[in-house]
Amino acid sequence: MCGIVGYIGEQQAYPVLIKGLHRLEYRGYDSAGVSMITPQGDLHVYKATGKVSALEEKCAPEDTTGTIGIAHTRWATHGEPNTVNAHPHRSESGNLSLVHNGIIENYKTLRAMLEKKGYSFSSETDTEVLVQLIEFTQKNEKCDLFTAVQRALKNVVGAYAIAILEKEHPDRIVCARKGSPLVIGVGTDARGHREFYIGSDATPIIEYTNQVIYLKDEEIALMTRNSDLPEIINLANVHQTPEMHTLQLSLDELEKGGYPHFMLKEIWEQPNALRTCIQGRVHVQAKDVRLSGIVEHREKFLNARRIIICACGTSWHSALIGKYFIEEAAQIPVEVEYASEFRYRNPVIYPDDIVIAVSQSGETADTLAAIQLAEQKGAFLYGICNVIGSSIARATHSGTYIHVGPEIGVASTKAFTGQVVTLCLLGLAIAKEKHTLSDEMFHLLVDELQSIPDKIQWTLEHNQNIDQFAQMFTYCRNFLFLGRGYNYPVALEGALKLKEISYIHAEGYPAAEMKHGPIALVDGEMPCVFIAPKRGMYDKVVSNIQEIKSRKGKIISVVTEGDKTVSDMSDYTFVIPDTRDCFVPLLAVVPLQLLSYYVATAKGRNVDQPRNLAKSVTVE
Ligand code: AGP
Ligand code: GLU
Repeated sequence: MCGIVGYIGEQQAYPVLIKGLHRLEYRGYDSAGVSMITPQGDLHVYKATGKVSALEEKCAPEDTTGTIGIAHTRWATHGEPNTVNAHPHRSESGNLSLVHNGIIENYKTLRAMLEKKGYSFSSETDTEVLVQLIEFTQKNEKCDLFTAVQRALKNVVGAYAIAILEKEHPDRIVCARKGSPLVIGVGTDARGHREFYIGSDATPIIEYTNQVIYLKDEEIALMTRNSDLPEIINLANVHQTPEMHTLQLSLDELEKGGYPHFMLKEIWEQPNALRTCIQGRVHVQAKDVRLSGIVEHREKFLNARRIIICACGTSWHSALIGKYFIEEAAQIPVEVEYASEFRYRNPVIYPDDIVIAVSQSGETADTLAAIQLAEQKGAFLYGICNVIGSSIARATHSGTYIHVGPEIGVASTKAFTGQVVTLCLLGLAIAKEKHTLSDEMFHLLVDELQSIPDKIQWTLEHNQNIDQFAQMFTYCRNFLFLGRGYNYPVALEGALKLKEISYIHAEGYPAAEMKHGPIALVDGEMPCVFIAPKRGMYDKVVSNIQEIKSRKGKIISVVTEGDKTVSDMSDYTFVIPDTRDCFVPLLAVVPLQLLSYYVATAKGRNVDQPRNLAKSVTVE
């Protein structure tokens, strides 16, 4: 969590930092802060609780002529979100200011050691310990900041991405990372001067340059004004050559484009996003599905004894759909694990297992740790990520990007459908190699998958009244989402979506399992959302609806176009076009995304930045 921005060059730093913070605000929004060095050599820090706009309103700096600065938007882990705990944090002497993303696990021990040496602390954060430790190292070992950071970090346990300013040297920024992401943008201003940008991701950078260096774990970078490239060293004291990458991101993708919220924009983007995801992978003429990751590692997939998918949250839900599909199509057993549980067990992993990480951001700390564990145990690692060049994409042996474009809304929508499509493509590509599907079935599935973007468009256009009846549900305190087979993960996803942005308690359950407990909750107040397409297990779901109706529960259903039975039994219905069972989740989830969006907006919630959450969970 947390967003870090930095700038050193010839332009005024403040506008770059503020704009960058707005772009990174989805990562955390408990407080925001900026630190800059003025041309006269004064180091200033401005901090405010709440959003970046509060920082702009409450403490706009009088002097914005400084051309070097760092900034931060916080998702608090240590200490409540107040101004004292907000970043940047200053060192005891006031010479250093530092921003940090991550958690320093041994901060108590370090703090006790520093207190003995006479250092005092004003905040409750682990971050302040870091800045004092660096200053202590610098003084004690009489070295420059770059060396001090490298030496100090050797004593640190935990995850960090940091950027530091030094008052005595207003011509340099030092940054470092381990476990949390950090990107350095290398640009040239209009007058030909070199400038460096720092970002937790590329979104604050793309406006100025598309040339970036992804800092690797345990690397420390020194950016000096007018130098051509950053100097990079790792914790083991080995100099590293900066590797330049060209960003493929466009600025339009980061704007709301006329929609009131990113979430709504991203819901409506799904047809096009999925077309991009499928494009180039499905060869229409040859009726073939090709993923380079599978082509390159064909033997691994042919001989895989088992696939284990590790993920969190929404990505875990898409993984569950992927499990059903891969088992059915490619006949390989698949286990789906919560990454946070997997990493702390001693899981049995065989050398012929494939471990797949599914992660929109590619930065989720638990998912990253899960695959690192799997690698130690000899597994082959495959990544399904959205963010290009992200940590998980780089830590895996191979993988497939979902290519749905940047997802800014904290609630995942197009990334979910993109992950499901990618897992289906993966299942089809393996099935093709293993001949586990008849040619006829393979072609049928490929054709149907290609029609999904149009069917999502249809679904979006035929459910435009959701905003009106969403009003009716704003007073509900609980919701139940029920589905069977492929639609059980959709029920889980519908419930997660609703609770994370509307703050209404919701549970997802396999429809039949609800008799074993949750049915006790059902009364006239309780809306039950059934995913009830006219497909396999339809009659069974009809019986489950009957059971709820007998207890006076309110029925909201997702039904196939033309359905009468379930529609007649329901208080409200959403329609989707017919498709094969395995692809129903891609359509059924769409009205549920809209339902949660409209319930949340009717309740006045901040849907793009719901309370307590952040987009990228880089802490465990
Ligand atoms: C989704 O709406 C959530 N915000 C959250 O569950 C998310 O899916 C989870 O944190 C995993 O993120 P990732 O896909 O970036 O790894
Ligand atoms: N641990 C730091 C704090 O609480 C940074 C938190 C984070 O990166 O999420 O301020």
